[in-house]
Amino acid sequence: MVAQKNEGLVMRIQEIETERLRLRQWQDSDYPLFARINADVESMRFFPAPLTVEQSNDLARYCRGLIAQQGWGVWAVEEKTTAKFIGFTGLHKPTDELPFTPCVEIAWRLARAAWGNGFATEAASAALSFAFGELALPEVVSFTTLTNAASERVMQRLGMKREPQTFEHPSLPSGHPLREHLLYRAYADERASDFV
Ligand SMILES: CC(C)(COP(=O)(O)OP(=O)(O)OC[C@H]1O[C@@H](n2cnc3c(N)ncnc32)[C@H](O)[C@@H]1OP(=O)(O)O)[C@@H](O)C(=O)NCCC(=O)NCCS
Repeated sequence: MVAQKNEGLVMRIQEIETERLRLRQWQDSDYPLFARINADVESMRFFPAPLTVEQSNDLARYCRGLIAQQGWGVWAVEEKTTAKFIGFTGLHKPTDELPFTPCVEIAWRLARAAWGNGFATEAASAALSFAFGELALPEVVSFTTLTNAASERVMQRLGMKREPQTFEHPSLPSGHPLREHLLYRAYADERASDFV
């Protein structure tokens, strides 16, 4: 836990440790590595476009700002053995108006070199435990474009349940191939045994 002054209050920044990973506040040194992930066409295949360095830095600053404000959020993920930044995983209140908002979503984006190790699932499982434990949320959602099978598999590995209905993401224009999204939910009462 890291204490930080925030508008006269001491904000407790929550950090999470798993067997192989640390979910922590963002650092300046993460920004160039994050920009590389966001510029990678394969990593960004299911987003409208890769991000410029400026857009990537803005996103890192946004995630960092929310963690500074509320103590939790979309954490930077570091591999413990190497202390290397490998991407993000965490919790976020979607700002778009979606059929199921307000809600808290769980999201992940890792460097391609880190895929295939179970890191996204390990980080997200800990973030879900945090959501249901520390934050006492009744449910957490996750969504992605219909064809993002790797991300959907993470949702399934976490034991999340798919909603039968898909939805159109309003930030993409009508007819865009990535516009149709699937939605999964995780429920606190189904993981209650983790918190007794
Ligand atoms: C989505 C994303 C994070 C998934 O990464 P991933 O490495 O496939 O997922 P996990 O970290 O859960 O790893 C699971 C894989 O690691 C393998 N694995 C190896 N060791 C493992 C271990 N100890 N535990 C669990 N899985 C392990 C699994 O077999 C599985 O491989 P498979 O998919 O070929 O069956 C990654 O594809 C990504 O960053 N994509 C770009 C960003 C993106 O699309 N984000 C989602 C937008 S909504």
